[in-house]
Amino acid sequence: MSMDLPVAPNPRGNVIPKVYSEYVIEKEALRLTEVIKQPKRWTFEHCKTIAPYTLEINELKKDKDVYLIAHSYQTPDIVYGVADEVSDSYSLSKSARDAEQQIILFSSVRFMAETAKILSPSKLVLHPSPEAGCSLSESITAQDVRDLKEKYPGVPVACYINTTAEVKAEVDVCVTSSNYLKICENLPGDKLIFVPDRFMGEHLQNSLQGKKEVIIYDGECEVHALFTGEKVLSWKERASEAGINLQVLSHPECAADVLEESDIIGSSEVLIKESIRLGKEGFNNIMLITECGTADRVMAETKDELNIIGTCVMCRHMKTTLLEDILQALREPSSEQIIELDKEVIEKAKSSLDEMFRYAEL
Ligand code: 13P
Ligand code: SF4
Repeated sequence: MSMDLPVAPNPRGNVIPKVYSEYVIEKEALRLTEVIKQPKRWTFEHCKTIAPYTLEINELKKDKDVYLIAHSYQTPDIVYGVADEVSDSYSLSKSARDAEQQIILFSSVRFMAETAKILSPSKLVLHPSPEAGCSLSESITAQDVRDLKEKYPGVPVACYINTTAEVKAEVDVCVTSSNYLKICENLPGDKLIFVPDRFMGEHLQNSLQGKKEVIIYDGECEVHALFTGEKVLSWKERASEAGINLQVLSHPECAADVLEESDIIGSSEVLIKESIRLGKEGFNNIMLITECGTADRVMAETKDELNIIGTCVMCRHMKTTLLEDILQALREPSSEQIIELDKEVIEKAKSSLDEMFRYAEL
């Protein structure tokens, strides 16, 4: 009896890259292995299979004058194979705003591509994986913010950048993981509404204790919420028993008890730079409490022998994007791959992002 096996869904169709000569493919595969620097996981043979995609994407980028930016949590083939710039959400927002190119392809989750569109409304912003969302941005709606404003009239509202354009349009200022403390501290008044990340909100409550009351919301990042202070403490104890001087670095989307056990707290880019710095200074045992892409970048970008200990949780949203999706968006984007936003939403959301840049650079 025959049985119909389910076919793996591929909403964007099967994209077949151009055909290149064996010589060109081998040369590109060699380049990829050299930049990715993980020869066991990204072997020369594997890189040969992705080479036609990176080759065609890089050709199309040049022909169409596209600026391709990627968040650090994207996979190494994207980060090192085709991206013009890779960083955290604050730096990438600025780069999207300041790019000379009229076409931006944002390889990341939806809210980051929306942010690029808000900051550069006249540019064509492509988002190759329309279904790539974020648990934080999905945790709150514009109506939720309006309700909070009604409940606490006159209290300034700050939102984490991991929110939809509609939510950004309702708040006074946006913040990112690299500036939330500074911006929230400098906002006028002795009260503040912070949405949607409850962990970052609790961190703000602890840091601004005695200075400001912080009203928080209950969203969370499904990736960083998985770490607990108890687990981090037990890893630290085990390391110490083995005579290892462990440096713990964590992202501020983690719970307060995780942050308490951490030596360094920072944005994805800060964690990468600090890990590399620690390695140079001889602190070779690093624990990265964040998404796996951070460790991929550290491994590729340091010359020092680093022992990156165990913690890695993958963001399924960030890892949705494939080279095939990027190729399709560059060749002929589907309507879902083009970011379109309401004009009024853009204007209002831009003002909260402009406020972020103003406060962050004070
Ligand atoms: P960064 O701004 O630190 O890159 O954070 C974005 C994000 O989504 C982390 O989960
Ligand atoms: Fe959102 Fe968390 Fe994924 Fe970042 S890691 S995109 S906050 S779900």
